[in-house]
Amino acid sequence: MIRAVVLISGRGSNLAALLAASLPVEFAAVISNRPQAEGLGHARRCGIPAIALDHRDHAERAAFDAEVMRHIDACRPDVVVLAGYMRILTEAFVDHYAGRLVNIHPSLLPSFPGLDTHRHALAEGVKIHGCTVHFVTAQVDHGPIIAQAAVPVLADDTEATLAQRVLAQEHRLYPMALRWLAEGRIEIVEGVVRLRGAAASQALFAPQLPGPCA
Ligand code: GAR
Repeated sequence: MIRAVVLISGRGSNLAALLAASLPVEFAAVISNRPQAEGLGHARRCGIPAIALDHRDHAERAAFDAEVMRHIDACRPDVVVLAGYMRILTEAFVDHYAGRLVNIHPSLLPSFPGLDTHRHALAEGVKIHGCTVHFVTAQVDHGPIIAQAAVPVLADDTEATLAQRVLAQEHRLYPMALRWLAEGRIEIVEGVVRLRGAAASQALFAPQLPGPCA
């Protein structure tokens, strides 16, 4: 069993997927920078300590991150899991958890870092979109990639339909990646993730891609 702390900002559907996945992970706490985040209620219903902090109480980003770090470190986690945590992190935060800080992002990184990924994907006319689980580095939505899931972009997609298709894959991908972490299947070699065992062939899901090869 590894110990994890999950950081969220809102709905918490990725958190729910992680909690439902029977992972060999002890979830020590869920922390939100938004006290009204729905995911906090879900954590409490699952018996996991839920900590509501409010970034608006701190004038400085560094002071808020230090407060979050105090709460995280009190839990002594092996891994810190960002699951829809919509904050730009200070370098001090990222450095402190280097190699044990993971994130899920709703695009096939390095394409479309930042916000509104589905809108950008539609505007660019990409035919494949998806999501990425990666280690976090100081650069926003960047860092060694653990696993990705690809979905088709359909001609009649809206932001909402595309987001829904990607989110369904997020809910499969993040539990899988966290399981690999818990099982010690992941190492970073020269900035690139190397997966051991079965994980090595499963790091890309492309479940619904149509096309001449399908
Ligand atoms: C998810 O789509 C996640 O990938 C995204 O926020 C959403 C949170 O949903 N994260 C980012 O954009 C981080 N850059 P959830 O609260 O229902 O898990």
